[in-house]
Amino acid sequence: MNIRSIFDKYSNTFTYIIHNKTDAIVIDPVLNFDPDHSQISYECIEEINALVFEEKLKLHACLETHVHADHLSGSYSLKEKYPSLKIAISENITQVQKTFAPKFNLQNFPCDGSQFDLLFKNDDLLTFGELQVKCLATPGHTPACTSFLIDQTLFSGDALFMPDFGTGRCDFPQGSAEDLYHSIHDTLYRLPDETIVYVGHDYGPGGREIANKTTIGACKKESKQLKDSTTKEEFVQFRTHRDEQLAEPKLLMQSLQVNIQAGKLPEKESNGQRYFKIPFST
Ligand SMILES: [Fe+2]
Repeated sequence: MNIRSIFDKYSNTFTYIIHNKTDAIVIDPVLNFDPDHSQISYECIEEINALVFEEKLKLHACLETHVHADHLSGSYSLKEKYPSLKIAISENITQVQKTFAPKFNLQNFPCDGSQFDLLFKNDDLLTFGELQVKCLATPGHTPACTSFLIDQTLFSGDALFMPDFGTGRCDFPQGSAEDLYHSIHDTLYRLPDETIVYVGHDYGPGGREIANKTTIGACKKESKQLKDSTTKEEFVQFRTHRDEQLAEPKLLMQSLQVNIQAGKLPEKESNGQRYFKIPFST
């Protein structure tokens, strides 16, 4: 199994391309967006395309660990290039859609997950040629969060981060520090210690170099926020206090309205221009 990671500096996000022989999937593709110039670009997508071309891969699917609130998903853009590709997400996407479709006043928006090709549930085993992916529901950051286990390698999305950073935040609507504790402590930490973990984000705390690879054993022993010995009360208190100090993600509004639609950008209007909807209060 080969793993290529692509790092988006703007949102500190990792995209992963996993392939075995010619069978490939992508986890959490990024569609690059520069808000200072309101400009979409395709660096991440182009790197995926180049790898698919070089290695003669068949790209079966884009798996979303969750609806991201800090960057646009590149899944729909990839599907436009590879029409047989399936965009997959947890069946709990419906809960996220029901929360955010009214916030953006999206008209005629079915909150049934039908914008995605494949809805999976906890413990589902997905087969893409030579690749088998086990879906482990890891809610807490959002209710639809899923980690993916492929062989002995875990892609943890925004549940578990590098040990010196800890975990994802839990203050988005329907987020829950209690749920995240159970997801990590009772699900991910029950995997063998030698399980390799690739994280969804890294912020290089304390100025250390950006990193994305650790192990379950290292997180259990050293995680700054949630060790195997941490109690639920300790974690919930820490996480809640930490979340109170965090600012909203910079691309929150743009990301949510696109990502609940599998990364599909708003249609062009009659003048040929696309627009995001940004709600504000008076
Ligand atoms: Fe996230």
